[in-house]
Amino acid sequence: MLLTTAFVFHVVSGALWTGATLYVVYATVPRATDGTLGREAFVDAAHRLLMVTRWTGVVLPVTGAYLIWRLYVPLDALVTTGRGWAVLAMLSLWGVMNGLVEVGVLRMRREVDPDVGWGRYMAEGFPVERLTGGASVPGAAQLAAVVRPYLLASGALAVLLLVDAALLAGGVPG
Ligand code: HEM
Repeated sequence: MLLTTAFVFHVVSGALWTGATLYVVYATVPRATDGTLGREAFVDAAHRLLMVTRWTGVVLPVTGAYLIWRLYVPLDALVTTGRGWAVLAMLSLWGVMNGLVEVGVLRMRREVDPDVGWGRYMAEGFPVERLTGGASVPGAAQLAAVVRPYLLASGALAVLLLVDAALLAGGVPG
């Protein structure tokens, strides 16, 4: 029962996070770049992606660790089986993608708020209220240019994560 519950929370969190990332990359970055989407709407989308990253960033490792404990103990199964390697790849992709979203949105916030430190950023993210300053605040296109490489890389890693999860669900032998 607990194993099933862990799988449910794990898969729902993974779907929410990868889906949110790919949606932001597909639907908001190009529109912020060409000026169709306003600065407030774009910053709000990026901030909400950051919040989804942080919430699922608690649920995924906790449920993932539980799944490892239930399914891969003794732990050498992680390095002696194809499924184990797929799980290690999942863990690594999660770590790198998390870092990319965090740093990308931080760099975007620093365009507006150059002195913001990690502590304040970790507490606040990049809420739309921080866009004070009227005309001196960079436009959506400039903000999008800063965060774009990070989000494109995150989108690519999200696809790899989904492929990895599909292999675990359907095909990796051993
Ligand atoms: C801390 C990071 C993570 C850890 C430690 C972890 C660990 C695991 C483990 C141990 C399993 C069970 C594998 C098995 O059935 O043999 C699993 C399954 C799964 N994980 Fe992750 N995972 C992590 C992150 C993610 C992320 C970011 C996604 C997003 C796509 C994801 C999606 C899935 C899915 C869909 C399954 C079900 C696959 C199946 O049917 O077996 N996981 N994960």
